[in-house]
Amino acid sequence: MPGEFPMVRPRRLRATERLRSIVRETRLHPASLVLPLFVVPGRGQAQEVASMPGVRRWSVDRVSEEAARAYEAGVRSVILFGIPETKDASGTEAWRDEGVVQQALERLRADLPDLTLITDVCLCEYTDHGHCGVLSGEEVENDPTLELLAREAVSHARAGADIVAPSDMMDGRVGAIRRALDEAGHERVPILSYAVKYASGFYGPFRDAAESTPSFGDRKSYQMDPANGREALRELEQDLAEGADLVMVKPALPNLDVLARVREACHVPVAAYQVSGEYAMIKAAAERGWIEEERVVDETLTAIHRAGAGLILTYFAESAARRAAWGSLAARSVDPEVS
Ligand code: PBG
Repeated sequence: MPGEFPMVRPRRLRATERLRSIVRETRLHPASLVLPLFVVPGRGQAQEVASMPGVRRWSVDRVSEEAARAYEAGVRSVILFGIPETKDASGTEAWRDEGVVQQALERLRADLPDLTLITDVCLCEYTDHGHCGVLSGEEVENDPTLELLAREAVSHARAGADIVAPSDMMDGRVGAIRRALDEAGHERVPILSYAVKYASGFYGPFRDAAESTPSFGDRKSYQMDPANGREALRELEQDLAEGADLVMVKPALPNLDVLARVREACHVPVAAYQVSGEYAMIKAAAERGWIEEERVVDETLTAIHRAGAGLILTYFAESAARRAAWGSLAARSVDPEVS
């Protein structure tokens, strides 16, 4: 009977790398990888982040060093996060035209003109309470926050951001930012919406790096419940209706099912964020010799890509890009042995 063993042998196409390489469905490309960069005040800074070995926080005068290494590896875009000198209740440093992110944009544009500059638009790095919006008592207020996020996005666009990426999860922020950008003459700046962002334990190391751990409570009243998949589609619809040009799912690996659904449900580019805790987990296990770092990184990024992400934000961008570029040249993949 056709369709049965021994006529059917899926292993035939797996026998050699020669064959595997021509039937491979998913390939990483360096240009699909986006490198997150943390920018701190001061000069000459390259501060290590304890919970993210290999990741540093750069001052404006040095941030191009790291970006240039990634660019040279084939990475074509970075996303910037700012840690300001001073924080206050409403996060005013976020929209100061001489703020760290704004200065870093100018520096990177001058040093690496072909690099695409994305900025994270949120207040949690800039507020003294660490929440992503303004407070009334212990409530994170939605509507008054929109105006502040819009100011921040416009300030980033003015400083040269190619794409702005709101990550706050307030309702209506994509529309508010779109209107403000258009009014300020930035109608050509796209919005990458963190449309589906879960309230996740995987952001822990990022909050060390960005000094943005909430001083009380958690983010569950604005970020999504990890138990919900259909709600992701509702967030998606809303952000698309408000003018999102690209959408993101985050964290990536725990939400591949949601990523695949988002990919099916819309016709804009889809991104996924392999977040700080995903990075730290791989680093920690590899440090102990329990897993092979490069192999696991490539496997996770390939799975995220296969599930539907055209763009992947990852702290591994530079090293993964080097391997992806090399792999696509096929220099190493001619191994005739059965393995
Ligand atoms: C800001 C923001 C966060 C991340 C990206 N933008 C932290 C958070 O929501 O607490 C997390 C990224 C990471 O963990 O790598 N709101």
